[in-house]
Amino acid sequence: MAEIARQHWSAERYAETAHFVPALGATVLELLRPSPGEHILDLGCGDGVLTQKIVAAGATVIAVDAGPEMVAAARARGIDARVMDGQKLTFAGEFDAVFSNAALHWMRDQQSVLGGVRRALRPGGRFVAEMGGHNNTAAIIVALSAVLARRGLDAHRLNPWYFPSAEAYRKKLEQAPFMVEKIAIVPRPTTLPTGIEAWLDTFAEDFLGAVSEADRLRARAEIADLLRPVLMDETGTWIADYVRLRFRAIRTK
Ligand code: BEZ
Repeated sequence: MAEIARQHWSAERYAETAHFVPALGATVLELLRPSPGEHILDLGCGDGVLTQKIVAAGATVIAVDAGPEMVAAARARGIDARVMDGQKLTFAGEFDAVFSNAALHWMRDQQSVLGGVRRALRPGGRFVAEMGGHNNTAAIIVALSAVLARRGLDAHRLNPWYFPSAEAYRKKLEQAPFMVEKIAIVPRPTTLPTGIEAWLDTFAEDFLGAVSEADRLRARAEIADLLRPVLMDETGTWIADYVRLRFRAIRTK
């Protein structure tokens, strides 16, 4: 796994190529079931599109994200958003729930994440999240690995993503400790509205950033060539092999 993630989050690029991320967050929001008056932390809020739905349910929300541009975009939506690394949360016993969508898989130190989430919750509070699960974007990772290997680069050393199985993550949650009410792997083929090359630009900077600038477009095209037969349907639509891990866990004491 990568030592240091290079990923830079541009709110503009995210809105253009990744708007499906918050749009597909309805199921995990249902699992959160926010109530009026609850105090909720949104961990990895991105540009705040999904956070606004929690606010609309009547909850008071504090949102954090490690990307300053994303936090600025969330603030522009009127959200109380702060720049904070999810591995270094500073809250103590103040939330009824911690919510996270499509953010945890960017955090390598899961022990610190879970410790910080647990501390942030009041006893009885819930941690509800969705992240990439085991086999998420497996075809994309294989194609990235093959194209980088042609250039003498080891994609697995550059990989910033953590996509655990339900069993592995249940163990981590229980060790934190949380009481796991529900945890499941859910395959979710995901249409990429702007295609695979734009997706790679938005999400795979840690891999493509290791290729020389002069060669980067060529490498990106080679990855698309490898993936076309498996991820493009007969209408020319790119559909990525997303697999979600969704869970609801309780801080018992
Ligand atoms: C995801 O949200 O599943 C995802 C994010 C980054 C890279 C791959 C997948």
